[in-house]
Amino acid sequence: MKSLKLAIFASGRGSNFQAIYQAIEEGKLNARIQVVISNNADAGALDFAREHQIPALHLSRNQFTNASMFDLELLRVLREHDVNFIALAGYMKLIRPQIIREFHNRILNIHPALLPSFGGKGMYGHFVHEAVREYGCKVTGVTVHLVDEEYDHGPIVVQKTVPVYSEDTPEMIANRVLEMEHVAYAEALQLFAEERVQIQGRRTLIRL
Ligand code: GRF
Repeated sequence: MKSLKLAIFASGRGSNFQAIYQAIEEGKLNARIQVVISNNADAGALDFAREHQIPALHLSRNQFTNASMFDLELLRVLREHDVNFIALAGYMKLIRPQIIREFHNRILNIHPALLPSFGGKGMYGHFVHEAVREYGCKVTGVTVHLVDEEYDHGPIVVQKTVPVYSEDTPEMIANRVLEMEHVAYAEALQLFAEERVQIQGRRTLIRL
């Protein structure tokens, strides 16, 4: 078993990052968080990282004259911190092809619904849970998937369901899903730490 040397990319409060951190502390996930990167200087994720002595960087496309220079700097930072795996945890930007090529099948994302439903561009945050409620779904859930060049598209690694009740507000659905996200993300990462994930086209095979 190889320990994952993680970079966390987060744009917001970072509760999934915190859950990953917790799982490592509790010995449920064999990984180390090498660096946290955010496109948003005010992200709660950066504050949490700094409070826990994890290198935390504000890096955004806006700081560079073009996207390739941004990619080059990202890759340099990832190398400098000896990263071998990336976890997107509420990262609101598309990962560009150069990074995807360098970290082929080594980037995970978490989405708060059961893909391929309720995913894609514009389907994030409360929009997802409102759409699930409006559609009248009786279940929703969490998808942890590998990242390719399209939003919410790469091979699925872990999915978990939660019920939707008729009296639910979108916030109630969001909270139930988030609780499940915190379990699912560490679980998916641990499958990679244990080298149990095999990828065949769109499908992943998980070795027992
Ligand atoms: C989560 O719902 C995740 O599924 C989505 O963005 C949200 C991030 O929440 N991709 P947090 O910043 O991890 O608390």
